[in-house]
Amino acid sequence: TYIFINDEFVDESKGQVSFSDRGYNFGDGIYEYIRIYDGEVFTAHEHYERLFRSAKEIGLNLEDYSVEGLIDVTKELAAKNNVVNGGIYIQVTRGVAPRNHPFPDASTKPVFTAFSKSYDRPYEELENGVKAITVDDIRWLRCDIKSLNLLGNVLAKEKATQNDAAEAIMHRDQTVTEGSSSNVYAIKNGKIYTHPANNLILNGITRRVIKKIAQDLEIPFIEEAFNLDFLNNADEVIVSSTSVEVMPVVQVNDRKIGDGKVGQITKQLQKSFDNYIE
Ligand code: PDD
Repeated sequence: TYIFINDEFVDESKGQVSFSDRGYNFGDGIYEYIRIYDGEVFTAHEHYERLFRSAKEIGLNLEDYSVEGLIDVTKELAAKNNVVNGGIYIQVTRGVAPRNHPFPDASTKPVFTAFSKSYDRPYEELENGVKAITVDDIRWLRCDIKSLNLLGNVLAKEKATQNDAAEAIMHRDQTVTEGSSSNVYAIKNGKIYTHPANNLILNGITRRVIKKIAQDLEIPFIEEAFNLDFLNNADEVIVSSTSVEVMPVVQVNDRKIGDGKVGQITKQLQKSFDNYIE
């Protein structure tokens, strides 16, 4: 299995990172996770443009890279590893420097790493839906940056796992923000509601696809924050991400959503999403 590290494709057994890497010491870096469907890289431009945006927001210099160049790397990595269906993880850290909080010398090169894995779409969950729990959103105020610092997300997801749930839906003072690794939608009276894409959530690429699909289907897509009470009383609830796609949530904590079955609007969105990735 090949990985991509420091501008080279090498066998994964040869991939080494320094103990002084700022990603390792400080979580000082950014990442993307991109899906491969049928050998094609899905929404690659959108993901790499977001990577460049995250880099800019944290002052990480990516001038040696370009969106097109990175798309080529992604394609080559998928091809070398024969990934037909699966995903590619890409991370960039601020580089290797003696551990000290201020940014290192400007000559410090970012450390770029990418690996691939093969797996199928989560067909069973997409058909039957999953359970979610709700947790306090204890994260920082720049959740729009796809940062390597995921401790708040990891703690939330672990709590979900401990409660036999697939996702933790986070809220700040009752206002639903997003999932630990997904965006969240509540559907009520034929309209889709989701938190606006501001500093409190990651503007998901799947969210953008869902917005477009909803517009094509003429289903109102309302980017307005809603609270836990609204979530609990929604007709349908969805979480979305590169890995879980358009995932129905049929139970939140101990409460069934609607009649506890996957709803009609969710099914419509899933059908359009399937067409979109073809
Ligand atoms: N996570 N919000 C958070 C906090 C996320 O971590 C993710 C994705 C999303 C959805 O973004 P997108 O649709 O672009 O995948 C929203 C990825 C899958 C991960 O951490 O692996």
